[in-house]
Amino acid sequence: MDYHTLLARLGEGSAHPGGFQATTALIGQIGFPRGAKVLEAGCGTGRTACYLASLGCDVTAIDRNKDMIQKATHRAKLSGLPVRIVQADASSLPFPDETFDAVFTESVTAFTQGSTAIREYWRVLKPKGVLYDRELAFAVKLTAAQKKKLQAFYGLQHMRTVPEWLELLSKSRFDHYSASPFMQIKQPANDNDPLRVIDHELFAKPDAVAMMMKNERLMSSFSTVMGSIVITAWKA
Ligand SMILES: C[S@@+](CC[C@H](N)C(=O)[O-])C[C@H]1O[C@@H](n2cnc3c(N)ncnc32)[C@H](O)[C@@H]1O
Repeated sequence: MDYHTLLARLGEGSAHPGGFQATTALIGQIGFPRGAKVLEAGCGTGRTACYLASLGCDVTAIDRNKDMIQKATHRAKLSGLPVRIVQADASSLPFPDETFDAVFTESVTAFTQGSTAIREYWRVLKPKGVLYDRELAFAVKLTAAQKKKLQAFYGLQHMRTVPEWLELLSKSRFDHYSASPFMQIKQPANDNDPLRVIDHELFAKPDAVAMMMKNERLMSSFSTVMGSIVITAWKA
């Protein structure tokens, strides 16, 4: 089982730094108008996609992982919200050019071949469209051994400092972009997700329990250097 399948089976609703509180705060700041066509890339179990739909956005959500797609579809059905959910790779989006007003993504691009996903986000945005991307970022450059550890467990493809994220954006076709300051990871204590569906049999599987424990250990050993940023990038 890979890390994202573990998250899916745990029904994790906000698998990114700051949790759902950070998501709702960011969406509040953005203030999407009703009817805005928003693509959520890497929607996980669909909590954010449903929240955006509840605000009146016209939401399409994609994820590569089939267990995530299943959970997201279930959540949308339970919520009675119209979210278009498609299994797809962020590096090869099955949508025509200039489809969306905004691309919203949290903790996903770091798991992709970064430049390809960024190119795809740009391609599917309409002119004047905006990318909002909350990403894992590191306070210092990691050593090759540290990167290997995180790559092996989480499947992270790149582990960038803030300047390295900005360098990636500088090579993209986005007209202009900015990044928030580096924030250390603080998960809110109370992140109650009423529609979370946990596959409880997971807790009887020694390999799954070992993965959960390894996750805790890694998060704790990288806690001083691992954090996040929010990238905003505008298409001309
Ligand atoms: C850390 S989780 C974040 C999920 C969700 N954005 C959230 O914040 O709860 C990363 C998600 O990205 C998805 N993912 C990873 N690589 C992807 C890719 N290349 N294309 C689409 N989805 C991808 C995973 O399946 C997983 O659902």
